Amino acid sequence: MATIVILGASSGFGAAAARAFARAGYDIVGVHLDRRGSQPAVDAVLADIAAAGRQAWFFNQNAADDAGRAQIVARIQELCPPGSVKGLLHSLAFGSLAPFVGDRQITRKQMEMTLDVMGSSLIYWAQDLVGSGLLGDGGRIWAMTSAGSHMVWGGYGPVSAAKAVLESACRQLAVELAPRGITTNAILAGVTDTAALRKIPGSDLLLEGALRRNPSGRLTTPEDVADLLVLLASPAARWVNGNVLRVDGGEDIAG
Ligand SMILES: NC(=O)c1ccc[n+]([C@@H]2O[C@H](COP(=O)([O-])OP(=O)(O)OC[C@H]3O[C@@H](n4cnc5c(N)ncnc54)[C@H](O)[C@@H]3O)[C@@H](O)[C@H]2O)c1
Repeated sequence: MATIVILGASSGFGAAAARAFARAGYDIVGVHLDRRGSQPAVDAVLADIAAAGRQAWFFNQNAADDAGRAQIVARIQELCPPGSVKGLLHSLAFGSLAPFVGDRQITRKQMEMTLDVMGSSLIYWAQDLVGSGLLGDGGRIWAMTSAGSHMVWGGYGPVSAAKAVLESACRQLAVELAPRGITTNAILAGVTDTAALRKIPGSDLLLEGALRRNPSGRLTTPEDVADLLVLLASPAARWVNGNVLRVDGGEDIAG
């Protein structure tokens, strides 16, 4: 039995990863935060996992809540034997998009929430999944970062700061968990037309600019990233550790 835990499994990269891992023979634990209106999208992911013949356990819960996380990890322990979680994907999009200074400037509360959900929550999930013995030798941790980690986009400052936290957490986990045979990598996806992207102020311009710049002639898709994650879960990728891996068709390095 092999299971992948996906934080943000109902949409965008997380949903594509859930489908791709199910097709590749993994069961899926998904955590997501959705209102009733987006339940059809959740149901569609669940149906595709079932159609692939795999099991899915989805939890509609704030992944940054300590008590909720403890409950979910306890449930995974009931469902999955030790060592059977082969991967943890952090793909949460839940941040405040606001300038640091000026009209509607970011508040301390918004900043801390963004840093917590989109950054440091990875650490606590890693603690619990490794500490419980669910994620062990041969395990993988991935976290979704973006070009906004090293570029300035209007209003993206809080998320950019969270990406710095996330990338730093990945480096630290890569070194701390290497002796246990667990690898950790940040995945830098190109600009991708998802629900989260559409919330960034000026997202149309971001999409246009990425399309113009991308030397591969199109935007990144969630499936581009999901396919790479399945490859990275293979034992053949055991020595890939501590990287920020660009998955963007060359967009980030193109002038
Ligand atoms: N779209 C892009 O262009 C792009 C590019 C690079 C990196 N990323 C990153 O990829 C990640 C996923 O983004 P996406 O574009 O797939 O977004 P999305 O909006 O399509 O999906 C976000 C997912 O996170 C879940 N979620 C949000 N807050 C949550 C919470 N508190 N607890 C549990 N679940 C929660 C949602 O339910 C959903 O499943 C983000 O970290 C984003 O910054 C996005």
